[in-house]
Amino acid sequence: MLVLGVETSCDETAAAVLDSPRNLISNVIHSQLIHEKYGGVVPELASREHVKRLIGIVDEALDKGGRKLENIDAFAVTYGPGLVGALLVGLTFIKSIAHATGKPFIGVNHLEGHIFSNFLQSENCSPPFIALIVSGGHANLVHVKNWGDYKLLGKTRDDAPGEAFDKVAKVLGLGYPGGPAIQQAAESGDRKFFKFPRAYMGKDSYEFSFSGLKTAVAVYLRDKSDDYIKANLKDICASFQEAVCEVLAVKALTACEKLGVDKLSVGGGVAMNKRLREVVQSRAKNIEIFFPGPGLCTDNAAMIAAAGAYYLERGVTSKLGLNAVPYLGI
Ligand code: KG4
Ligand code: ZN
Repeated sequence: MLVLGVETSCDETAAAVLDSPRNLISNVIHSQLIHEKYGGVVPELASREHVKRLIGIVDEALDKGGRKLENIDAFAVTYGPGLVGALLVGLTFIKSIAHATGKPFIGVNHLEGHIFSNFLQSENCSPPFIALIVSGGHANLVHVKNWGDYKLLGKTRDDAPGEAFDKVAKVLGLGYPGGPAIQQAAESGDRKFFKFPRAYMGKDSYEFSFSGLKTAVAVYLRDKSDDYIKANLKDICASFQEAVCEVLAVKALTACEKLGVDKLSVGGGVAMNKRLREVVQSRAKNIEIFFPGPGLCTDNAAMIAAAGAYYLERGVTSKLGLNAVPYLGI
């Protein structure tokens, strides 16, 4: 079954084609640069960029896959969570095509898409496993008992980890998005330079909190001169990054151990982080770890098409009345 997937939940305009949940034919992602100068995503501009770019991105995904729109058997699109205006662009586009062609479509939960991103790459990443979804908007720890059977173990009470990377990068003058910039600056830094707080939220808690850490960095920087910050930038970045990675790794691996699950799947933009990969790998004992490759961590349509294809192949479809659900949970 040839499936076209579309993702427009935040600031990536993306389209992908696959012919089974695990066989990707093309994956095109346009990351909107327009938000850089504002230091964060501006919702209206995101929607307008999707309106401007989506058709071109879909055509590119079809061209790269050597397919035409009429070859597509079914469609998959993110319907939440995300920015409502941004979601509506992709959803309305796909619903219109489904209506015009009479072909089926399915609305996909963006978070479930992130969970499918590792399955797309590796058949071994099949349930049961623990999924850690960490991005600019989310921190979710999920027990994936089976496809479609999820138990949310914990989420963030305030900021998402990517948001903390972005906000700390902003105070350090490193630009947006902050994750890659902090990772790069931290590469040769001393991780033990300063011990920023780790919020574990209680011994058995799977909840996250990153706003205290963000504030701790701001407080630490308050009485430091520009020269001091410049001279110690890589150490400050490495110390901050370590605090984020340690909490994420400890909570995810504890969940695996306590629930007796021997696989951990990490996804979302923060899964790109090299240090997070190292910390998780080095702390894992008898747990198989999955991280998505390039093009499958940050928001993309391949994961949406993969999740969609899984359900479409089983006859599950959505109705044309489906609306965007900005606060959709898992
Ligand atoms: O999944 P994503 O594209 O969008 C959301 O759903 O939010 O994730 C974007 C987030 C941004 O906050 C960005 O700073 C972060 O992922 N990110 C990283 C890295 N690359 C992207 N964070 C840490 N290290 C990275 N290498
Ligand atoms: Zn995402």
